[in-house]
Amino acid sequence: MSRTLADVASEAAGCTKCRLATSRTQVVFGVGNPDADLLFIGEAPGMHEDKQGEPFVGAAGQLLTRMLGDIGLTRDEVYIANILKCRPPGNRDPQEDEIEACTPWLVEQVSLIQPEVIVTLGNFATKFVLQTQQGITRMRGSVYPWHGRTVIPTFHPAAILRGGGEKGRQFGDLQEDFALIKRTLAEPEPEPEPEPEPEAPPPPPPVTSLIGLERDAAMPTVTDDQMELF
Ligand code: URA
Repeated sequence: MSRTLADVASEAAGCTKCRLATSRTQVVFGVGNPDADLLFIGEAPGMHEDKQGEPFVGAAGQLLTRMLGDIGLTRDEVYIANILKCRPPGNRDPQEDEIEACTPWLVEQVSLIQPEVIVTLGNFATKFVLQTQQGITRMRGSVYPWHGRTVIPTFHPAAILRGGGEKGRQFGDLQEDFALIKRTLAEPEPEPEPEPEPEAPPPPPPVTSLIGLERDAAMPTVTDDQMELF
């Protein structure tokens, strides 16, 4: 019998693959529809998420829920996850070895959910998923093909809140990005790629091996300006 997302979640609940196992309250695996067309990827759980066991439940999460509502979606219809499943103490940046240890959970999430569209929330998730050094300010506003899916980067809601929320300069950009998400979801799914000819080079590896951490020194760093702290 094949593994379900619930199987993976219950296995992850006991994860001790990195040091965060000793400081977390609980693993924050992810929440939402296991068949979602739309997957959000944030950075790591914060204090509220660590307490409640669900991603994006604090102030940033409330903004995410509101933005979803603006495009006619609920949290139950999408899937919400983070790169790290456990809270880094004091909300420090995820460390390279923690990301490496945690990535297989995200790989399984993508493989089982098979989302059409992945939204990376903030600088950190965007750099990690798209393997880019470009900051979120440059990356947002566009769609990126990614292993037969579409990635849409946008600002982290916590960064929007720190920038003044609805009154801040980037709120309009966030709204534009959510409108782009809505339009992209409404597009027909791309045709599956044709089978390669026998002589053709082998197809690229499947997403299960490619979410990003075969690389070593190329780990994204979070170094841009204030808006790009997440
Ligand atoms: N920030 C994140 O990146 N993820 C959460 O779950 C909460 C805040």
